[in-house]
Amino acid sequence: MSELYIGLMSGTSLDAIDAVLVDFSGELRLVGTHSTPLEPELRSRLTALCQSGPDEIERMGRLDVEMAELFAKAALGALAGTEHTAADICAIGSHGQTIRHRPHAVPGFTLQIGDPNIIAERTGIAVVADFRRRDMAAAGQGAPLVPAFHAAVFSHPERHRIILNLGGIANITVLPANSSAAITGFDTGPANLLMDAWSMACRGRAYDAGGEWAATGEVSAPLLKRLLAHPFLTLPAPKSTGREDFNIEWLRAQLNDLTEPLNDADVQATLLEFTAETVVQAIRKLQLPSGDLFLCGGGAHNVALRQRLSYLLPNWAIASTSALGLAPDWVEATAFAWLARQRMKQQTGNMPAVTGARGERVLGGLYVP
Ligand SMILES: Nc1ncnc2c1ncn2[C@@H]1O[C@H](COP(=O)(O)OP(=O)(O)O)[C@@H](O)[C@H]1O
Ligand SMILES: [Mg+2]
Repeated sequence: MSELYIGLMSGTSLDAIDAVLVDFSGELRLVGTHSTPLEPELRSRLTALCQSGPDEIERMGRLDVEMAELFAKAALGALAGTEHTAADICAIGSHGQTIRHRPHAVPGFTLQIGDPNIIAERTGIAVVADFRRRDMAAAGQGAPLVPAFHAAVFSHPERHRIILNLGGIANITVLPANSSAAITGFDTGPANLLMDAWSMACRGRAYDAGGEWAATGEVSAPLLKRLLAHPFLTLPAPKSTGREDFNIEWLRAQLNDLTEPLNDADVQATLLEFTAETVVQAIRKLQLPSGDLFLCGGGAHNVALRQRLSYLLPNWAIASTSALGLAPDWVEATAFAWLARQRMKQQTGNMPAVTGARGERVLGGLYVP
């Protein structure tokens, strides 16, 4: 079996489809990468689909096909310019675009779109997709799924390591130095989701590059206190979250309850502090004395956020996953290439301690070319 896999990821930020071609035959090696930005019009239709509204099935059906076509192109984009052809690739791991994630509902459910049949048809490559629902069927949250990958490639025998993914949502994987100690991982709350929404609402910019705008504002203690009162934050792990819990309507409700209005930059500064504070509180609760904290996801480029994390976690050495040989923008897509590999080898991909599932499960459905 070939050890070449393609990973496809489009996260809650709705910024882009990330595609990687990975060689697992020796040390993990990125052979090709490709990123397809999501056009504002498509992005707003996807955002709309993340909440209930009229004509949902019709809109979902169309976007399921449209996203699949884009996923297929992104996969071929990662292949283009490399020495490989479709025939060399063992499988594509496609996460899909999440449009609902309600693990805490009764019954809990999660839904990703981007029809894998279309991806298999357009690329001529086997596709593994629908990774989350088997874990949920086994009473798990279906998330986060990346910790097993982090554990496989980033663990260290003598150092405590934490991988912090700063996407739309922030999630941590805790890799204790002692390999017999339990690996844990969970969503800590929003990373960029609210900062992006506020940046778009006030300045028409998809995100605050480097956190520069946030750095011009002052943190509002009353707003921060309100944000930190969100019930998700005190839930015990395993836990995962999404746009259902944290969105601009919720933010506006918190702003409306303040006695004094804030200026826009102060709100942005407070949102950045909220992300930093929720991550830091989660890490402090682990009661690990010190270690390495590796950042990945787009938020790894947010200089102001990184500075706050450094300040609040003086005992942790902070770097991006580039220091581990994998650039922060490609970690999630690489994780889904790895999960596809697990599926092809009939090996499990979830960690019950992380998702809350009854046991380890082989994840994903297979769509042969
Ligand atoms: N230079 C940057 N400065 C600050 N934030 C950035 C920068 N580049 C990307 N980001 C943030 O990262 C987000 C995308 O991160 P990503 O890891 O792709 O998240 P997701 O998995 O949710 O799609 C963007 O929406 C933006 O908020
Ligand atoms: Mg993204």
